[in-house]
Amino acid sequence: MVATEKEILNCLSGDRRIVDIEPRFQKIISNIAKVFGQVAQVKGRRATHSFGSLALGKLEVIKDINIPKHRIFSPGNQFPVLVRHANIKGFPDDAILDGRGATVRILKGAPDTPLASLKLADYIVDILMSTGRCFFMNNAASFSRWVAASMEERAKLLVEFPKIKPIFHEIIRNPESYTKLYYYSQTTYLFKSAEDPAKKYLLRYRLINADRASDTGFIDESNLRLPLDYLPRLAKDFRPPNYLQQDFRQRVLQKGVQYILQIQLQEVSDSLEANEIAKDSTIAWDEAKYPFRDVATIGLNSIVPDEIAEPLEFNAYHAPDDLALILAYSIKETASINHLRSIVYEISANMRKYQVPSAELVDWGIDNQPPLKAIFPYFGTSGKDLPRFDPQYDLPPRVAPKPRLVANIGLNTIPAKPAPPLQLLGISGVSDIIQQMATPQVMPANLSRCRPDKFSDTFFVERRLNGFNPGKFNRVEKKDWQYVIRYDCRKHKVKPAGILPAVIEARFTLQGQSLQVHSIQYDLNGATTTNCPGDADWEWAKRLFRSAEFIFQETQAHLGRTHLNIEQYAMAYYRNVINNPIKLLLEPHLEGLLNINKLGASIIFGKTGIIPQASALDEQQVESLLKEEISQLNYHTWHPSTQALKDFVTNNFFDRAALAAWQVIESYVETFFKNQEAGILALWSEIENMSQDLVAHALLKPKLGTLAIANINDLKKLCVYVIYHCSFLHSWVNYKQYEDGGDIDYASIGLWDSHHSAYNPVDILQKHVQQVVIVWTLSNVRYNPVMENGNPMLKDLFWRRRDEIQPGLPLELLMMSIHI
Ligand SMILES: [Fe+2]
Repeated sequence: MVATEKEILNCLSGDRRIVDIEPRFQKIISNIAKVFGQVAQVKGRRATHSFGSLALGKLEVIKDINIPKHRIFSPGNQFPVLVRHANIKGFPDDAILDGRGATVRILKGAPDTPLASLKLADYIVDILMSTGRCFFMNNAASFSRWVAASMEERAKLLVEFPKIKPIFHEIIRNPESYTKLYYYSQTTYLFKSAEDPAKKYLLRYRLINADRASDTGFIDESNLRLPLDYLPRLAKDFRPPNYLQQDFRQRVLQKGVQYILQIQLQEVSDSLEANEIAKDSTIAWDEAKYPFRDVATIGLNSIVPDEIAEPLEFNAYHAPDDLALILAYSIKETASINHLRSIVYEISANMRKYQVPSAELVDWGIDNQPPLKAIFPYFGTSGKDLPRFDPQYDLPPRVAPKPRLVANIGLNTIPAKPAPPLQLLGISGVSDIIQQMATPQVMPANLSRCRPDKFSDTFFVERRLNGFNPGKFNRVEKKDWQYVIRYDCRKHKVKPAGILPAVIEARFTLQGQSLQVHSIQYDLNGATTTNCPGDADWEWAKRLFRSAEFIFQETQAHLGRTHLNIEQYAMAYYRNVINNPIKLLLEPHLEGLLNINKLGASIIFGKTGIIPQASALDEQQVESLLKEEISQLNYHTWHPSTQALKDFVTNNFFDRAALAAWQVIESYVETFFKNQEAGILALWSEIENMSQDLVAHALLKPKLGTLAIANINDLKKLCVYVIYHCSFLHSWVNYKQYEDGGDIDYASIGLWDSHHSAYNPVDILQKHVQQVVIVWTLSNVRYNPVMENGNPMLKDLFWRRRDEIQPGLPLELLMMSIHI
């Protein structure tokens, strides 16, 4: 069942702002949301970025206040308060001449509560103000025309609305300091008195410096360049780009900043017409008739750190009933402007968080889309083949690589192409040229090449703990050793001249809080050999082990567990989910996956892929290894603790990073569900269909349960599991490949018998080159980092746990999605 636009707008949020409005108004909202969405699709990150400064302090309602009795603005009332200054169009450069904003958030709680104990999202009211007494349009109809207009069309609007120019002249400022400006709410709110709630007033706010000095920073009208609604930085202006932010922060921290909050009141009249004029945001109220009255003093004395400030969402709609935002029904009413702006703010906040606007605010034109199942076809036979996108088909636009992905990677550099002319040398050029070189020794140094002790037993243990194939230790009882790592290749046929033990097992003893390698046992050509440190063949045994490990790392840990395991969820998701809000959570983590897997079918694991080419296993053997891995994985039962060491080992950085990452993602997912649960349930049919596809195409062994999503808790688990594998686990197994695999002497994915008749040294050399080049490329495409593109909450949660994650994986290597 596909929900209609009306259903989406109505049922999901129940928000009055998008329910009780005329269809034309809904259309405008939907269009604006779509524009935001498209910008994000192109830019691949949030459409708006806020650069601002947030200060914390105390708001104190003045004692001799002269307004009708009010619940909040009552003499002597004190509250914690936030004031945020920013440039209204969001420019990061303060020297670009723009309107300047001040947002006041009055918080619940006792004044003087320290920052650590305050809940900054717990507001009483948000008061959004900016320079200039008026806003330049007076209803949603004209404002949305301006927003959507080209420069030529805007020039025409300037003629149609002659007020625009003088109003912009008052808005755009070149100030010395944020603290020397007057800030106006421009639009009108509703004020209800505590004495007589039936008596209503229209309300406007103003914020000024407590020194009551005049407003500053006006520009010469002749400098305006409308329809450009700002002025670029002047060539002779050498002020630092954050001069206003710095100034404000210093003033707050040094002596504190004092403001006065003022209001104008005007009784609501019986005349509709008079009220419409009073609410017209292009008309300033006569100050002689409606003077600004002092309401409260604001003292600011600390700056809120950016990582705490950034996730906060301010909105004029955040107001109690007795200071309410006035809503409109029609796009022609003067109240529609603030009504619309409050929604635009919300969409933009959603964009910051999830990179797409909330489903309930947008009509994505779902009626016109081709059936999802036709454009996301499965490969092969369900239950037999890997549940993945059929690579014969083109990728649908929804999952096609974004320009930034192409630019970042040069995906086109794999496989090798003829070297381009030198003048074209760029990211892709470098990689092309590297691939022309004859030997891996020209490649950039990797970890093992930089370690003179790379063949030591200590390093051997360290790499098993923290290298590219983590989580493989199993505790054993009643042996001289306590842990083993075992690779079993008995089922797999080895190529002629290839050397791969049928079984190989490394054993480790636990000594205090450290692991030591005890011995390695392997079956090769029908004989079982055990080597211990010091034996003549000890280095050979370790080499055999590293080679087997490499094959299992690439096939099972990297491709199986992350790329292809997650593709089964991605396919079920893309084929069925279009409007469910779960999209906001999952889709940013699936970016690039179908693309790389389609590509990977030919360059990694298919017939021409690196693993079948460079290792002792051919493509059928590789595929059966992949299937074997995927048939054991179930999101219901898996948790990083299932593979963690049972004892504390000092240099076991993987387990502690994995557990921290899991917990981070759990709380991130939990918060998302708390906010979006109603919407998720309202469109549960999409999840039901996703579940059916997942089950129908799974390779999971029946005795290991089902992948079905029976309820919202299952869905939550699935999200944690998918996001963990897309971000942390893939980042670990992918970005560490070059550490070991970039050095043929240290770890080769294929070992070859030089006495065998099928042995061809030139061919082997090529395999070595191929290995080093491919693991270099895979380890160096660093697109979509969490700390860059993740939503602020996720970034913040990871940042807080960095001490546990970083010894194993630097946070800058933590990516949002599997895209390489
Ligand atoms: Fe990968």
